[in-house]
Amino acid sequence: MSFLKLNIKVFVLSLLYVLTFSTLQLYAADVAKGEALFKQHCTACHKVNQKLVGPALKGVTAKYKDDPKFLYGWIKNNQAMIKSGNPKAIAAAAIDPSAMNTFTFLQDPDIENILAYIDDYKDTPPPATAVSGNSSDGGNQDVFANPSIYYSVLGLAALLIVVALFLVFAAAGLSASVRAREQQEELSTSAIWGEFGKFLKNKFILTSIITIALLGGTLKLIQAARAVSIHPGYMPAQPIKFSHKLHAGKHEINCQYCHTGASKSKNAWVPATNVCMNCHKGVEAGPVYGKSEIAKIYMSAGFNPDTKQYFEPNTPVDKVMEAFSKWMADDAKTKNLAGALDAVKEIGFNKPIEWIRIHNLPDHAYFNHAQHIAVGGKDKDGNTIECQTCHGPIQEMEVVYQYSPLSMGWCVNCHRQSKTTYTFTDPENPKKSFTPSPADMGGLDCAKCHY
Ligand code: HEC
Ligand code: HEC
Ligand code: HEC
Ligand code: HEC
Ligand code: HEC
Ligand code: HEC
Repeated sequence: MSFLKLNIKVFVLSLLYVLTFSTLQLYAADVAKGEALFKQHCTACHKVNQKLVGPALKGVTAKYKDDPKFLYGWIKNNQAMIKSGNPKAIAAAAIDPSAMNTFTFLQDPDIENILAYIDDYKDTPPPATAVSGNSSDGGNQDVFANPSIYYSVLGLAALLIVVALFLVFAAAGLSASVRAREQQEELSTSAIWGEFGKFLKNKFILTSIITIALLGGTLKLIQAARAVSIHPGYMPAQPIKFSHKLHAGKHEINCQYCHTGASKSKNAWVPATNVCMNCHKGVEAGPVYGKSEIAKIYMSAGFNPDTKQYFEPNTPVDKVMEAFSKWMADDAKTKNLAGALDAVKEIGFNKPIEWIRIHNLPDHAYFNHAQHIAVGGKDKDGNTIECQTCHGPIQEMEVVYQYSPLSMGWCVNCHRQSKTTYTFTDPENPKKSFTPSPADMGGLDCAKCHY
């Protein structure tokens, strides 16, 4: 009988172990998650073992091992650290004349995962066919494509449970035959389950199991729920390396020159290729990518940069590519001509550019740009609501990312704290005037934001 009890104990304890472990892993650094985050936010400027816009990041944890907190602060908000005069930050800023984005939405565990991915990174030979465009490195990384140690350990634990369960019944079988020989009463199945029950009645074990299961489950649920439609920081790679920092920042092009819908309609709209062509008929090469990215605009517009004429719409793609190949051949910034031409071809001749949408409310929620831009309400600090109030410092972003949570709480809080443009005067007392908040005007009514 004691052998049976022992095996039941092993079974329940291994169950407990699995639960604890799967809860703990919520906090442990996760290389696969780190990889997904790195690809989403950092690959625009960094490679692990090669310089890109920013430095190679291999060995960066070792570089700052005397002050690991520094990396967290730097990755979240390098600008603030530089401004505060932190000597390490000033030294890091001197690495490269261009600056790094801020990532204030990243939580410490996110950064831990990213750093774990960088530390874990091993060189693999590049795949035979270079993939270009947005097919492979778009937004949705599959974290399960790269199962970390966690899944192997979980598998091992599952095996342990099966073995333990097997032992329980083997032991039960043994003690049954012993009982039969000693002509005792036979051990029934219900008696075996009874043993389980006794063990489970142990308050400590039971409370532990329930607490851990609840805690783990709740955290998982919260994680999953938060990921459903709220993606601050979402920063997919776009089909053309369009830089807001260059256009809206350095060249100070007005947001609404391109996003013409913002003050008159629900949507701000992403500009069509002909808007790009207004300038790029003349601007043929850029400071970073030379001709290779601007060539994609021409491909989409059906424009022959070699002859400066539009192609006939029925020109065969081979002829089109020939013209691009001739025009790009002398571009010093295009290192890999064949790869660059493939990427141009992928855009599609005479096809609109397939920008990946970044901000996206669920279908049941209604947001209207004109209601916010044209009327010119004031935020909680009394400043007129600008694009940046909701979208952050777009003019500093090399690659656009979602700056605000776009959650219901975010909309509602702002409606409580900001001011509309209306002023009401009390007819009894003309000196008393009142500027309502959007909330006072019905900005908290469910029907205003939900269909
Ligand atoms: C817009 C381009 C850009 C993006 C995006 C970017 N970085 Fe950087 N990063 C830089 C540049 C440029 C530097 C060099 C410092 C400078 O010039 O300010 C740098 C420096 C760093 C450093 C310091 C390196 C050292 O040796 O001291 C770390 C760490 C770092 N980046 C991590 C990250 C991580 C993690 C991400 C993604 C969450 C990221 N960066 C995204 C451009 C970028
Ligand atoms: C020269 C044209 C141009 C100018 C000027 C410009 N944008 Fe854009 N914007 C684009 C293009 C193209 C995209 C789509 C590609 C991308 O996301 O980078 C875009 C994307 C965006 C997005 C993300 C859209 C989405 O998919 O959710 C926002 C937000 C945005 N711009 C805001 C701004 C703001 C704010 C300014 C002014 C500070 C501005 N833009 C200036 C062309 C422009
Ligand atoms: C109002 C004028 C204007 C418009 C509109 C415009 N651009 Fe540009 N763009 C420029 C200028 C100017 C440069 C070159 C900047 C330089 O040399 O410093 C440039 C450079 C570029 C580059 C090269 C970047 C590099 O570093 O190599 C790309 C790619 C680009 N633009 C894409 C676009 C796309 C896509 C659109 C349309 C959505 C667009 N631009 C609309 C003015 C414009
Ligand atoms: C009050 C907050 C707020 C302000 C101010 C704001 N936006 Fe938006 N923007 C949003 C939200 C929310 C979405 C997502 C809308 C959706 O999915 O229906 C969005 C989406 C976008 C998009 C992509 C989808 C679309 O509408 O075409 C672009 C581009 C954009 N905004 C540009 C701008 C520009 C440019 C300005 C300034 C002229 C601006 N926004 C001002 C909140 C704001
Ligand atoms: C930066 C602050 C701010 C944020 C964030 C914001 N709003 Fe608003 N919203 C305002 C202001 C201010 C007004 C009133 C404008 C006016 O009429 O003067 C307003 C008005 C509205 C109205 C019209 C209300 C009416 O009474 O007619 C709707 C609908 C609305 N917002 C929806 C949204 C939704 C949906 C979101 C989130 C996705 C959002 N807003 C986020 C500031 C904000
Ligand atoms: C100012 C705009 C606004 C108002 C007012 C508002 N909502 Fe929402 N609500 C939103 C937005 C935006 C979302 C989508 C957030 C997201 O992506 O999860 C949302 C999401 C929801 C959801 C889905 C839950 C979820 O997390 O996806 C429910 C349910 C909901 N709202 C109910 C209500 C009810 C009930 C009211 C009235 C008491 C209300 N809302 C008032 C903007 C608003």
